[in-house]
Amino acid sequence: MISSYKFPHLLSMAILLFVVAVHLHSSAAVAAVPSTEANALLEWKSQLPNQSRALLSSWNESSTTSTGLCSWKGLTCDASRSVTGLNFSHVAINGTLQGLNFLSLPNLTTIVFINCSLSGGIPSTISNLSKLTTFDLGINDFSGGFPVFLGYITSLQYLSLSDNYFTGTIPGSIATLTNLTYLNLDANEFSGDLSSLIRLIGSLPLQNLLLTNNNFTGSIPSSIGDHTKLTLLHLSNNMLSGSIPSEIGNMSSLGVLLLQQNQFHGPIPSEIGKMGSLWQLDLSQNYLNGSIPSAVSNLTGLSFLYLYGNQLSGLIPPDVGNMQSLYTFQLLSNEFTGPIPPSIGNMTRLESLYLRTNQLSGSIPKELGKLAKLKELALAENQLDGSLPIELNNLTSLTSLQISNNSFTVDPYLGA
Ligand SMILES: *[C@@H]1O[C@H](CO)[C@@H](O)[C@H](O)[C@H]1NC(C)=O
Ligand SMILES: *[C@@H]1O[C@H](CO)[C@@H](O)[C@H](O)[C@H]1NC(C)=O
Ligand SMILES: *[C@@H]1O[C@H](CO)[C@@H](O)[C@H](O)[C@H]1NC(C)=O
Ligand SMILES: *[C@@H]1O[C@H](CO)[C@@H](O)[C@H](O)[C@H]1NC(C)=O
Ligand SMILES: *[C@@H]1O[C@H](CO)[C@@H](O)[C@H](O)[C@H]1NC(C)=O
Ligand SMILES: *[C@@H]1O[C@H](CO)[C@@H](O)[C@H](O)[C@H]1NC(C)=O
Ligand SMILES: *[C@@H]1O[C@H](CO)[C@@H](O)[C@H](O)[C@H]1NC(C)=O
Ligand SMILES: *[C@@H]1O[C@H](CO)[C@@H](O)[C@H](O)[C@H]1NC(C)=O
Ligand SMILES: *[C@@H]1O[C@H](CO)[C@@H](O)[C@H](O)[C@H]1NC(C)=O
Ligand SMILES: *[C@@H]1O[C@H](CO)[C@@H](O)[C@H](O)[C@H]1NC(C)=O
Ligand SMILES: *[C@@H]1O[C@H](CO)[C@@H](O)[C@H](O)[C@H]1NC(C)=O
Ligand SMILES: *[C@@H]1O[C@H](CO)[C@@H](O)[C@H](O)[C@H]1NC(C)=O
Repeated sequence: MISSYKFPHLLSMAILLFVVAVHLHSSAAVAAVPSTEANALLEWKSQLPNQSRALLSSWNESSTTSTGLCSWKGLTCDASRSVTGLNFSHVAINGTLQGLNFLSLPNLTTIVFINCSLSGGIPSTISNLSKLTTFDLGINDFSGGFPVFLGYITSLQYLSLSDNYFTGTIPGSIATLTNLTYLNLDANEFSGDLSSLIRLIGSLPLQNLLLTNNNFTGSIPSSIGDHTKLTLLHLSNNMLSGSIPSEIGNMSSLGVLLLQQNQFHGPIPSEIGKMGSLWQLDLSQNYLNGSIPSAVSNLTGLSFLYLYGNQLSGLIPPDVGNMQSLYTFQLLSNEFTGPIPPSIGNMTRLESLYLRTNQLSGSIPKELGKLAKLKELALAENQLDGSLPIELNNLTSLTSLQISNNSFTVDPYLGA
């Protein structure tokens, strides 16, 4: 053993060496041995193109020394500094998820990659994330089928694959997602029979079901009425047919019903008047016929009503004016006959009224002059006659007036 009394300079040197060694050891320990979570993320980053790595510059080993990976861009952690969320929007990551080892990130509850230029398929190790509640891959270039293994993530509450290139039918395993309240598959090329799908998801606690812009076929089953928790149902722009089932009236929580641009035919069921929560209804561009049920006027909370581009006929119900929350009322391109109901003048929030291209007759009711907020009034291509009421001069918000192709008497104020 070295005596400090005899060799004081050796002691100093020993202390110095010790300090250097401790210093080297500590920086090496943190830099060279990051957690398995950090490793998995850095491994994925290393596979991304150069420009994308620049977007993730905070994902680096030196930043694990100070605040840890919890400060990395897009990451959230729990109290024990384990990664619980990956949340990116509008970051052009431009790669795939294949190189991301989800088995090393078992505490993830949230995965959000919205508009990140990601492509390829969904890696199956996602299904091992037993705590995942939110999974959103909206607006990317993912392709392939709806993965069967997503059905293993029974913790899921929120699932969006919208705006991608997914194809094929929805597998039966979706029925196991018993906590799912939000399902958004909008703008893909999913196909298959809608009734089978509605049956599959029949016992899920869905509040939002968004299937717009796909290739779904078949009809709306009467069991849709059992989905009493649904607040949004978007089925527009598919290849759906059949008639609208009367059971739809049982969907008492539904706020938005979008069925436009399909091939629905038959009448609008009068039970629609029972949908007391409805504020947006779009049935446009189908083959619906018959008349508008007068029960529609019961929908006093409705703000947007689009029925254009169908084969609807008969009178516009005289009491439509009860729908005093309407901002937009669009009946154009149908086969309506008879007069314009004066009660429309009671829709005082109305900003656009489109009645053009029908077979309406009689004169324009002077009550329309009460629509102080009206910006667009389209009455062209009907069989209206008489002179234009002087009250239309009160429509000071009006920016567009279409009245051509009618039989009006020439009017000195507005012209015909
Ligand atoms: C990517 O960056 C590395 C250095 O980080 C460089 O050697 C390589 O040439 C770059 N590749 C491209 C395609 O720019
Ligand atoms: C590492 O990340 C930190 C922020 O977390 C940043 O300040 C630093 O510039 C990054 N280092 C490199 C080499 O990108
Ligand atoms: C996940 O969280 C648990 C505690 O909730 C923790 O014990 C475990 O170490 C975490 N896993 C990782 C990989 O950090
Ligand atoms: C993701 O981050 C955004 C803010 O960038 C936030 O508004 C959103 O709530 C986060 N989503 C989740 C599921 O944590
Ligand atoms: C997607 O993100 C890019 C930036 O990476 C942005 O310019 C673009 O507007 C975003 N698109 C959408 C639909 O949000
Ligand atoms: C995405 O990365 C590829 C190379 O991997 C590159 O050719 C392409 O330009 C990148 N696209 C964008 C939008 O950065
Ligand atoms: C991942 O999940 C699959 C399917 O549930 C299972 O077979 C596999 O053993 C799991 N892997 C790990 C590492 O837990
Ligand atoms: C479903 O939600 C309930 C109530 O929030 C929760 O107790 C249960 O653990 C969840 N199921 C799964 C599989 O996560
Ligand atoms: C979906 O429908 C569009 C338009 O009808 C068609 O061009 C496309 O081929 C269809 N895709 C599939 C996967 O059926
Ligand atoms: C009108 O609405 C009320 C309350 O939403 C409902 O109870 C009633 O059945 C509806 N009447 C018709 C004719 O739809
Ligand atoms: C307009 O509403 C008032 C009460 O709000 C009502 O008395 C009147 O009859 C309605 N007018 C028409 C034409 O329906
Ligand atoms: C509308 O115009 C008529 C005639 O120009 C006028 O008597 C009336 O007071 C105006 N106001 C309303 C709200 O109708």
